[in-house]
Formats: sequence, structure tokens, C-alpha cells
Amino acid sequence: MIITVYLYTITIITYCEFFFQTSGKIIQTMDDYDRYPKLPGWKYECYDGVIHATPSMHSIAATLPVTPRASTSPCKLVSADDVPREDLVRTFIAAFKDSVEFFNWTLADVEKHAGQWTNALLDGKRGRPLAISRVAVVDNAVVGAALFRDKDDVPFLDLLYVLPDWQRKGIATAMVTHAVNILHEARIPVLNSRYDLANTASRDWHHRFGFKDSPGWLATRHLRAYFRQELHRRELIGDLDDAERRRLQQEIEKWSGALRSIWGDE
Ligand SMILES: CC(C)(COP(=O)(O)OP(=O)(O)OC[C@H]1O[C@@H](n2cnc3c(N)ncnc32)[C@H](O)[C@@H]1OP(=O)(O)O)[C@@H](O)C(=O)NCCC(=O)NCCS
Repeated sequence: MIITVYLYTITIITYCEFFFQTSGKIIQTMDDYDRYPKLPGWKYECYDGVIHATPSMHSIAATLPVTPRASTSPCKLVSADDVPREDLVRTFIAAFKDSVEFFNWTLADVEKHAGQWTNALLDGKRGRPLAISRVAVVDNAVVGAALFRDKDDVPFLDLLYVLPDWQRKGIATAMVTHAVNILHEARIPVLNSRYDLANTASRDWHHRFGFKDSPGWLATRHLRAYFRQELHRRELIGDLDDAERRRLQQEIEKWSGALRSIWGDE
């Protein structure tokens, strides 16, 4: 059995054993913990007899080489200046309130944050807002927004959201495509963004659109740890064919290689 123990697991195992010894209450065997399905971008802690999953807060920088794209849109796209700010804030709240980005936040806190973030962005307090920002509108109602600003002289996708009922219809893709084509005409070579590793929709959207990840050191360690643990878990439950085993091993090697070549880690 391959046992690869890394930082998080050491912490969790130590804590579980401590709990066993001090409370005498049997909570979870380590085997149960190892078999528990896990997702990248999350941390799994064991207390009160159960495993608690919380986002690990790894923000991933992502970069897109700007090239022209075919553009179609399932709805009308307008400038951010053409819609009332309250509409943007309302759509922000509805799109994000159940997302991992606001895990365990109260609705009141999400509402407060939505207003503050939108105002700071549009008022230029987070960097110069860019005219390439686009808002998706259906029957005069805002259903999504892609809001950009300048960050270190490179365009940055600061906010991207679509109402749940309008997701998976190509709206985020249409809004960002519109912006990318304007950047291309202006001969701007790259667009930057960031997403939370635990946010599967955002991660998959960025990858599907063509963004390339540049995770930092902590996130890279987290990804290597995740794939090591996943390989171990799948071996344990007997759920690996050769191709899948090879894929997971390649992921481990990929992130180990990045740690060695970029940061000199072993
Ligand atoms: C992320 C988000 C903006 C995507 O908007 P969208 O309009 O649904 O995205 P699109 O329809 O353009 O999706 C294009 C592709 O991205 C990927 N994708 C989008 N949402 C996905 C999801 N929930 N799960 C997996 N892949 C997804 C798919 O490959 C999709 O193509 P497909 O539908 O043909 O499979 C939307 O899910 C959202 O608003 N989420 C809540 C707010 C948020 O997390 N914003 C991102 C913060 S950085």
C-alpha cells in the first residue's frame, strides 16, 4: 500500500488520534478518512466524529493569450455603463450567494460585499475599469456580467457571473469573447484572471475558454498532495485501471516537476 503523508494529512491524522485518545469516542477510522472522496481546492478536517470539508482558499492566477474568436451570443450584450448599478449588484448576489466563493457567509454579508466590490470596481478603486466590460441582458433584466479592470498594465477579468437559471447557455463565453476581440483589435496580447480552485464551475469555465493556470507555491503543493491522496484512495477502493493510474501519476509528476523547477523543492 502506498502511503504518502503530506502536511494537511499529518495535521488531520494527528488531530484525529488526539481526539481518539482524549475523548475516547470513536469517530472515524483512518481507513474511512482515506476512502472519503475529496475534491481539489478543499481541505478535509476530522472532528466531532465527522469529516468537515471547507474551501482551502487557493486562488489560481490564469492567463489567456489574446486571439480573435468567433462571437455569437444567446442574449443582448451592453456596456456596464448602460445598466443601473443596483441591477449588477442584485445579479451578483443571486449568482454568487450559493457559490463556494462565499462558503458559510450570511446572506447579509454577501449583499454587503456585492455592493462594496461592484462600487469599488466601477469607481476605479481597484484599478482603472475597462470599457470592454460587458453585461448580458434579457428582457431588460441583467442576467450576467463580465467586468474588467487594469491590473499592472494588463487587462484583468475582475468579476464574472451569470444567474443560475441562465448558466450553461454560453453567456459567460459570449461576454468574455466580446472583450477578447476588442483586446485583439487593440493589439493587447494577454488577458489575466484568477479563480478559486474549489470553484469547479469557474475552474472548468477558465480551462474551456483557453486560460492557462499559473498556481503559486502553496496551490501547487496542494495540487500535488491532492493527486497523491487521490491515487492512494483509488488504489484503496480498487477503482483504478492502468490508464487512470497513469493519469494520476502524471499529475503528481507534473506538480512535483513544477515545485522542483520553479521553487527548487524536492
Ligand atoms: C462560472 C460561470 C460564470 C460560468 O457561466 P456560464 O454562462 O454558465 O458559462 P458558459 O455557458 O459560457 O460555459 C462554457 C463552458 O464552461 C464550462 N462550464 C461552465 N460552467 C460549468 C459548470 N458549472 N461545471 C462544469 N463546467 C462548466 C463548460 O465547459 C461549458 O461548456 P458546456 O456548457 O458546453 O459544457 C457561472 O457558473 C457562474 O456565474 N457561477 C457563479 C459565480 C462564479 O463562480 N463566478 C466565477 C468567479 S471567478
